[in-house]
Amino acid sequence: MDLLIRNIGKIFDGRKIINEKEIYIENGKIKKIGGKERAEEVIDADGNLVMPGFIDSHTHIAFAGYRDFEINWKVEGASYMEISKRGGGILYTVRETKKATKERIKKEMMERARDMFHHGTTTIEVKSGYGLDRENEIKLLEAINEMDAEATIVPTFLAHAIPEEMNEEEYTDYVIDEIIPEVGERKLARFADVFCEEGYFSVTSSERILRAAMQHGMTPKIHADEFSCCGCSRLAALLKAASADHLLETGEEEMKLLASNNVVATLLPATPFVLNEKYADAVKMIENGVDIAIATDMNPNCYVSNMQFIIQLAVYRMRIPVITALKAATLNGAKALGIDDMKGSIEVGKDADILITSVKTPEFIPYHVGSNLIDVVVKDGVPYYLKQ
Ligand code: NIG
Ligand code: FE
Repeated sequence: MDLLIRNIGKIFDGRKIINEKEIYIENGKIKKIGGKERAEEVIDADGNLVMPGFIDSHTHIAFAGYRDFEINWKVEGASYMEISKRGGGILYTVRETKKATKERIKKEMMERARDMFHHGTTTIEVKSGYGLDRENEIKLLEAINEMDAEATIVPTFLAHAIPEEMNEEEYTDYVIDEIIPEVGERKLARFADVFCEEGYFSVTSSERILRAAMQHGMTPKIHADEFSCCGCSRLAALLKAASADHLLETGEEEMKLLASNNVVATLLPATPFVLNEKYADAVKMIENGVDIAIATDMNPNCYVSNMQFIIQLAVYRMRIPVITALKAATLNGAKALGIDDMKGSIEVGKDADILITSVKTPEFIPYHVGSNLIDVVVKDGVPYYLKQ
């Protein structure tokens, strides 16, 4: 099947604006940009902006156990750590996730992935991490791998929290001996991630887990410097992780290390938004040459599926320039997932994951807050018409 998108106003190609008017797609790949063609199916973009599908490179949508009850505690000003002491937090979701069957997890996760797709997200990284024990972590990873979603799914094993019945060292040994070998052998995850934070995994435990995962074929990622600084981002640089994520507390020295080791800084502004905290210092990261990606962090604490809202927070709250924010939501998200050779930009030969928006300029995406600005999602060359 072939497809022609014609009458395009502007194209954001993943890096910059180009002024071509047509994109020709064949067998799911971008074949030609600019220059008229004929095709079996033709879409008139109506002079609107066309751009790559969003790459949501950090999510935790594999769970059961919503935490809407925490909202009132947040209104009272409770911190993330206080909320978990009051019986909310990760361990609440772990208890609910353990009770859920794999089929239920898969069904709920697919509904979340579909909602994301309907807001323009064509690739979704999904972490495990709410199972904690071997059986339940494997259940989550199987569900992630078996999911039949419109979007491309990239699975990650996440060592997320210490279960109540073990201490940190015991659980770190358990993850290394009981979980990682099976995940590696069955190729259930492309990445391994650790929540490196006081009260969760220390830098030492994180390093042990990530080195074991690397030996089993996974690429490291780290939840780093979210509430305290900064050993975790140093570890990300040392291990040449694909990305270091959150980075609210990261200092300038660490930013330089991320840049020189080609580690993508994945910023998740919806998390400080829902926790009423400060945002990562994106301006300083950009000054120091760090590649920035932005993602939703969608999870039961931060239940955000729309990457357009993330772009809005990036621009208004972190002062990231519009084109840089769009690149962070597309090409740099793909880089954080090691798939930037195939996805994240509109280039000849790449996968045809393309959005036709309802707006004329890139500025309009952060400007028009809170609406869905996507008209058509093209996934592997197949158009899904959202507004008919
Ligand atoms: O990335 N920070 C750790 N993990 C998640 C939150 C998980 C949860 O609160 O359920 C995050 O924000
Ligand atoms: Fe996260």
